[in-house]
Amino acid sequence: KPHATLIFSRHGESQWNVDNRFTGWVDVDLSAKGLGEAKAAGGLLKTEGIKVDMAFTSYLKRAIKTCDLALEAADQLYVPVTKSWRLNERMYGALTGLDKKETVKKHGADQVQIWRRSFDIPPPNIDESSEFNPAKESNEAARVMPFWEETIAPALKSGKTVFVAAHGNSIRAILKFLEGISDDAITGLEIPTGRPLMYKLDKDLKPLSCDEAIAPLKFGKYLGNLDEIKAAAEAVKNQTKVAAAPAGGGGSDSK
Ligand code: 3PG
Repeated sequence: KPHATLIFSRHGESQWNVDNRFTGWVDVDLSAKGLGEAKAAGGLLKTEGIKVDMAFTSYLKRAIKTCDLALEAADQLYVPVTKSWRLNERMYGALTGLDKKETVKKHGADQVQIWRRSFDIPPPNIDESSEFNPAKESNEAARVMPFWEETIAPALKSGKTVFVAAHGNSIRAILKFLEGISDDAITGLEIPTGRPLMYKLDKDLKPLSCDEAIAPLKFGKYLGNLDEIKAAAEAVKNQTKVAAAPAGGGGSDSK
């Protein structure tokens, strides 16, 4: 029997999502489409009859606005919201501001996939003098999980319905723990923007099973149209897809 409900939403599309640049801790705003996604996320909470008790978001305006717009669309602006830097996006270090496809062309798809999605290998350090240098933590688990332990988990243990509006990588950190996803499998998990992902949890915060989970998830249920959500997740993966180099590395033999 469900004891608590946890709903995540990645922020709506941001302006640098449109430009396909690594954003991380840069405080980029939502695009027009992102504003619509945030409202639609809240509309789904309303349609599903979900009454949120507490909401959590990051220090970045794309997540904060998503939280606010979703709660407004759900007609629940009264919900108390707590912000933490621990829910921020991965700190993208020296990649911050760079074009995702150009970065793949320079460093290769495998290396960029590690910087984007691995759990323990951070992107290269940002230059001290970079305009984007916030001099902060880039290891997801170390950054995000203390907030889960100290703040989100206790709320869920007391049976609350909790909404977390955050970022692809901070949500992935919590999902890895909640779903017990392996280090290997987690690199294949993509979170689309502005789509509520709901968990029903027992009193020990173990997720209850769900028939409609999209692999590698086993327990989370996306609200809304699943085909659209799968396509949106695939699009996140394709942000770093560049045309394959000719066989033989483009050497003189290739035709
Ligand atoms: C960013 O910080 O660039 C985006 O919010 C997330 O990008 P990613 O999907 O490449 O991690």
